[in-house]
Amino acid sequence: MCGIVGAVGCRQLRSYLIDGLKTLEYRGYDSSGLAFSHEEAPLIYRIPGRVHLLEEMVPLSLEAGIGIGHTRWATHGAPTETNAHPHISHSGLFTLVHNGVIDNYRALHQMLSDLGYQFNTETDTEVIANLIEHNYKQMGDVLKALRQSMKMLEGSYALVIIHQGDDERLFFAKNHSPLLIGHGPDANFLASDYLPMLKHVKDFYALTDHQFGYISKDEVAVFDLPGNSKAKISYHQTDLTSEDINLEGYPHYMLKEIEEADNVIRHLIDNYHDGRNYLFNPKLLDTITASDQLIFLACGTSYHACLIGKRYLEALGKRVDVYIASEWAYYPVITGKNPLFIIVSQSGETADLIHCVKNIKQYKFPLLTITNTKGSTLDREANFTLLLFAGIEIAVASTKAYVAQVTLLALLAAALKGDSQLIPDLYHVIEALKKVIDMKSKFEKIADFLATKENAFYLGRGFDYDVSLEASLKLKEITYIHSEGLPGGELKHGPIALIDKDTPVIIFVSDSLTALPIRSNLQEVLARGAHVIVISSQSLAKGKDAIVVPDVPVHLSVLPKVMVAQYLAYYTALKRGANIDKPRNLAKSVTVE
Ligand code: F6R
Repeated sequence: MCGIVGAVGCRQLRSYLIDGLKTLEYRGYDSSGLAFSHEEAPLIYRIPGRVHLLEEMVPLSLEAGIGIGHTRWATHGAPTETNAHPHISHSGLFTLVHNGVIDNYRALHQMLSDLGYQFNTETDTEVIANLIEHNYKQMGDVLKALRQSMKMLEGSYALVIIHQGDDERLFFAKNHSPLLIGHGPDANFLASDYLPMLKHVKDFYALTDHQFGYISKDEVAVFDLPGNSKAKISYHQTDLTSEDINLEGYPHYMLKEIEEADNVIRHLIDNYHDGRNYLFNPKLLDTITASDQLIFLACGTSYHACLIGKRYLEALGKRVDVYIASEWAYYPVITGKNPLFIIVSQSGETADLIHCVKNIKQYKFPLLTITNTKGSTLDREANFTLLLFAGIEIAVASTKAYVAQVTLLALLAAALKGDSQLIPDLYHVIEALKKVIDMKSKFEKIADFLATKENAFYLGRGFDYDVSLEASLKLKEITYIHSEGLPGGELKHGPIALIDKDTPVIIFVSDSLTALPIRSNLQEVLARGAHVIVISSQSLAKGKDAIVVPDVPVHLSVLPKVMVAQYLAYYTALKRGANIDKPRNLAKSVTVE
């Protein structure tokens, strides 16, 4: 993970780097640091904490031609000041920031130690700084040294590098971890994503793997590693604007993003249905129809959305399997002769999925990527891409992206079936979501109770089981309350032993088929003293149910139900004083395995 920034020639360098790092904190926020080019040695500021604390250390009057910055999600070494980036090579010739993980760092560390290089940190990044310095001392040229170092490095990296004494050029290299160039008339920029650069430039170039080079005030030079040839680059623009990252009066991005769900559904309808027909690529639909196995791969919340997608596509008679990407990456199972892989990823940069793609490419099977991030690695690697059009999601806990994933999978299944009823049904869901938004005071009241607990259980059957898993993940990641999502019928096979006086058990009731057995499960936990909170659909509601949401077709019931669960997690975290948008130990874009 980690976020990196760099710039040459920017008049507001200090504020570009600091404000830019703040927009990248979703990538990690254990520690942060900056370096500015300076005569004798770069000026370096590092802190084991968030960027707003770093900001206080940097003089307002600071001026420099070149600067780099980093916000860290620790992989090698604790989040201390020593381990915070930027890191400096042994003789101080190179100062750099790194996003990624170097797999062969132990071997390189040994090799460089044997050559007399000293290390001051526990990071794999310091190895890179010393390796570049070592190669530079042999070759006398930064680009040659970079190229040689890339040949020796195994793993993922986005690097931004100051070469001491070169006041004009800022060097970079990329493999697997994302890195973009922002090109302006009299300044050039580097960053892990668009957000830091939006205020400064309109033209962007997304570096591809094995590219390296430099930016200066008025030049961008990109080289491809194989062949060392100068790459032809063409700039593109982004639909994102700096307004997209405004809170618009909301106290937290998570709340704003929960309440954007209705718009997300509307955008998807507009993009995939023209009022008469579905707008999916016919080749994609043919590929799905012709395949004898659909294999979903995803992580976390996106994995939970795939569980719903499985139900949609199985209802069409397809053979569908869903795997957690980090498992499938090492234990791949393919039983069909003609499978289609479907990767679902909000960020499009998740390392576990990128690992899976390597396996898929090896077998030469087709890949559909469903992502919110156009131009991301997983978009570029795919044969087909379906965009989620959810707008940028900033809170670390995913909310509207899940809504978008489920909706898009419903649209895809409906297109395959030729079912036009889905569109009015989705408008019905939009109305239901608005009613859920009006119930906020109820959620706050329940959160008062939940906030005092250390364990909670979510139960459901069918679609309600899938939503229980997502509801439970949301609660644990932002409130730090331990929780589990379980199929209602499974409780008595073990977990019921954990039910005690006042244990919160949240039960979803959306399906008439299983309304009776799930209510029996309710009685079972009630008899053991649990504090039961029922979230039911109107036509299945009973007098004591805590929250009753408007009826929608069962296969879409996860949309209003998940919104309730997201609100409950949000308000519970608020009452516990947790850092809602940036929960501990997490990062939004998980670019390490
Ligand atoms: C939870 C959450 C994560 C992500 C997971 C996959 O709120 O956001 O579980 O869903 O890290 O990320 P993507 O979808 O970007 O591949």
